Amino acid sequence: MAMIALKCPDINVTVVDMNAGRIAAWNSDKLPIFEPGLDDVVKQARGRNLFFSTDVAGQIKKCDIIFVAVNTPTKTYGVGAGRAADLRYIESVARTIAEHADSGKIIVEKSTIPVKTADAIKAIVASNSKGHKFEVLSNPEFLAEGTAIADLLAPDRVLIGGERTPGGEKAIETLANVYARWVPRERVITTNLWSSELSKLVANAFLAQRISSINSISALCEATGADVDEVANAIGKDSRIGPKFLKASVGFGGSCFQKDILNLTYLCESFGLPEVAAYWTSVVGLNDWQKSRFAARIVKSLFNTVADKKIAVLGFAFKKDTNDTRESAAINVCRDLLSEHAKVCVYDPKVPADEITADVLGKGVENARLSIAKDAYDACAGAHAIAIVTEWDEFKTLDYAKIYAGMPKPAFLFDGRNIVNLAALRQIGFTASGIGKPMV
Ligand SMILES: NC(=O)c1ccc[n+]([C@@H]2O[C@H](COP(=O)([O-])OP(=O)(O)OC[C@H]3O[C@@H](n4cnc5c(N)ncnc54)[C@H](O)[C@@H]3O)[C@@H](O)[C@H]2O)c1
Repeated sequence: MAMIALKCPDINVTVVDMNAGRIAAWNSDKLPIFEPGLDDVVKQARGRNLFFSTDVAGQIKKCDIIFVAVNTPTKTYGVGAGRAADLRYIESVARTIAEHADSGKIIVEKSTIPVKTADAIKAIVASNSKGHKFEVLSNPEFLAEGTAIADLLAPDRVLIGGERTPGGEKAIETLANVYARWVPRERVITTNLWSSELSKLVANAFLAQRISSINSISALCEATGADVDEVANAIGKDSRIGPKFLKASVGFGGSCFQKDILNLTYLCESFGLPEVAAYWTSVVGLNDWQKSRFAARIVKSLFNTVADKKIAVLGFAFKKDTNDTRESAAINVCRDLLSEHAKVCVYDPKVPADEITADVLGKGVENARLSIAKDAYDACAGAHAIAIVTEWDEFKTLDYAKIYAGMPKPAFLFDGRNIVNLAALRQIGFTASGIGKPMV
């Protein structure tokens, strides 16, 4: 929304959220999300044509287009628990629109939702007794956290799905004209509603599949002496495969991949396609295995016991350049190490200490074995092993000789992101290993 406000000074954008704390943060100097370049965009537009408010009902009355961008987490209860999307926030927004709208609106699904959700929204807003006409569009968001501003400035494509009726076509055109202010027209793709809704889940499933595919090969590389980065480079040069998203790692995290694949598998089963569901379930299963494999390897390397040994965990966010920790691999790694009675000391440049503790242990729970360090050197001091879990750039240039000097020997380093030079670390004296890298 901030990018639309920046690029379309004649359009008034008001972001409403029922979470007053978040709205207050959006109106302050410390935005609730860390995202490179976001501060600048918000500062340029805020107060001009970008506003943040908790007045949901009032803004519904005033506006022409409503983007619904509420959360659609995995359901934790009832039918479909653990896989289906929880659509209660979508439904509540639809009901709020039905209650307060006093003119026709275009409703845009921005959240990631299961295919056919537009039907539910349409049915609910149709209950608006004032007889207004609502058009529902699907306009999934393809930005990636950490590169959101760059992705929004120059998207590979913008996808807009709508009904193939005169009213639907007109609504699609209205929304396409908003993006056309800065996105080349040929990058704005229009489809029917269901293709658009489904494409977002499928895009995330394919991206996650690539990670699980290369991670499966990383295990084979470790067993054979092949180097996964060399394999990725060799296969990525094939233009049919391509070089992107072939970086082996401790596993994918984030609020979207796992949630959306699970949602896709649930949809497949609901539509009587258990084999398709099983195929995609394996992408998540492989990721779970990759995360646990990393922690298990640490324990095994440290002579099968980490009890009372200090392990430094560098990085907690699910990837670099974000403070988002949802489904981060670091959570699993920390929990696995704590269950082996290790003393886990975490450092992340952007994630607050209380959030790390709450993510690993649960809100309000404490465990003397888990501590949070103020910097990477503090985390590594006296540690038996270092585990790099997030690929923050600063971990590439640490003074590893200094760190090595302050560690008991043998000093271990496990690079869960393949970002450091293992040969140089071995030269210093570390017993260093990466993901899918030959052991020395
Ligand atoms: N995070 C990403 O990178 C990303 C990328 C593409 C798509 N998506 C999709 O976008 C959606 C939102 O994701 P997110 O990461 O921003 O989630 P989030 O949980 O950070 O934010 C959702 C916000 O919606 C608010 N909300 C919920 N119900 C509301 C209601 N009835 N009225 C007003 N506000 C309400 C919540 O208070 C919260 O602030 C999800 O469907 C997600 O799958 C996210």
